[in-house]
Amino acid sequence: MKAANTLLVLLLAIACFGQKPEIHGPDIYGAKPNRPFLFKIPATGALPISYEIYGLPDGLQVDKSTGIISGSCPNIGIYQTIVLAKNSLGADTLFFDIHIGNVALTPPMGWNSWNVFGLRVTDKDIRNAADVIVSSGLINHGWTYINIDDGWESAERLPNGEIAANDKFPDMVALSDYIHSKGLKFGIYSSPGPKTCGGYLGSLDHEEQDIKTYEKWGVDYLKYDLCSYAWQTKGLKKEAIQAPYILMNKFIQNSNRDIIYSLCQYGLANVWEWGASVGGNSWRTTGDIVDTWASVQRLLNKQKKLAPYAQPGHWNDPDMLVLGVVGWNDDSRKCRLTEDEQRLHFTMWSMLSSPLLLGCDLTKIDPFTMSLITNDDIIALNQDRLGKQAVLLEEKGKIQVWKKELADGSFALAFCNLGKKGKFTTYDLAKATTKACKTTKDLWTALKTDVRDNKLTVAIPTHGVVVVKVK
Ligand code: GLA
Repeated sequence: MKAANTLLVLLLAIACFGQKPEIHGPDIYGAKPNRPFLFKIPATGALPISYEIYGLPDGLQVDKSTGIISGSCPNIGIYQTIVLAKNSLGADTLFFDIHIGNVALTPPMGWNSWNVFGLRVTDKDIRNAADVIVSSGLINHGWTYINIDDGWESAERLPNGEIAANDKFPDMVALSDYIHSKGLKFGIYSSPGPKTCGGYLGSLDHEEQDIKTYEKWGVDYLKYDLCSYAWQTKGLKKEAIQAPYILMNKFIQNSNRDIIYSLCQYGLANVWEWGASVGGNSWRTTGDIVDTWASVQRLLNKQKKLAPYAQPGHWNDPDMLVLGVVGWNDDSRKCRLTEDEQRLHFTMWSMLSSPLLLGCDLTKIDPFTMSLITNDDIIALNQDRLGKQAVLLEEKGKIQVWKKELADGSFALAFCNLGKKGKFTTYDLAKATTKACKTTKDLWTALKTDVRDNKLTVAIPTHGVVVVKVK
């Protein structure tokens, strides 16, 4: 583990050596009034970088050496600020809106323990993840949440009914402080039923008490997983499934923290139609992902009609990423997708405005995976403030063409090849827009091309993707 980490830090140092600062990440961020505010400005470049922000609203301040904005802002409003990041080689600026009043204005990005540690997860695994997010520089590309999934709960509640963590998590407050001290955020998992999917204690009849405990622990994100509640309810009617989510939302909204509310109920009762109305910042649209092409393809195909339901603050969630070293039991392994399949997986989850949650052992992360998840052009599609999920424009045989509209008036086109043979295809851009297209940029090769005759020719590898930004 040590050697892998040292290699990463070295690669990072080489990548940033001699570079001017570059600010990444969204150009809007939201929080509720009077709640703790925490946002790290993601920026790469040779260190040290110093940060300044003009127009910060009352109650917020920025740490000039880390770019971490903290504090608490009392007044609802949209505050237009200018962020300046500079080092000895130059500077970068960003017009950055701070929206006090709403959260999750772009999809949450971070890491979750489930897809690699399963129920074995420990405090050490969580701290390691937080350490590597910082040491590898992932934090500088917007990766923020560090979420514990199932497996942290004690077998019994305390005599006063409070939930406690099991022996693997000796001190939740210390863990949360550790994560926050790095400018990262802390997520947790529970179920509305008596038991979680892994058989641990759920929140049934203790909902308000659990939110109070999460406040004490400094929780920023709750994944609320239906599990045993579904076995308990009489059938899986919409109202029965909605009820526990409505109940928990009441306590989340009344809490003294911004807690991102992630609904997990596998898409039952067309959750995308009502997830936002019960307070969900995201909702799972599918069953669990695994690291196979069949799984990625199945989940992708289930998103074809869901674009109308995504909007800033409320996102469809086709489950977490399976890139890098994954595995659920004692079988962690390099993910079984080919490189092209991984590229397609990451590209399409970004195009779909899905929450981006890594699910790998970050201490074993390899250069290829790093190259995927630090591609700022792809991440920018996901974090675009317009918040429009990609729509399927065309499906011919095994070729799908998806379009994502972007805030600057441009759009991205992703050509997915779900077939077993590589494919050349010429696409008439008039099918994607009525405007004249001038240039395209391939977001994996960075190649810019002038558009001729309003047509675009792409070579798409088998199970691969070509994604271009069209201006
Ligand atoms: C369900 C969820 C998974 C994970 C497990 C934990 O299967 O869909 O994402 O949270 O429960 O037990």
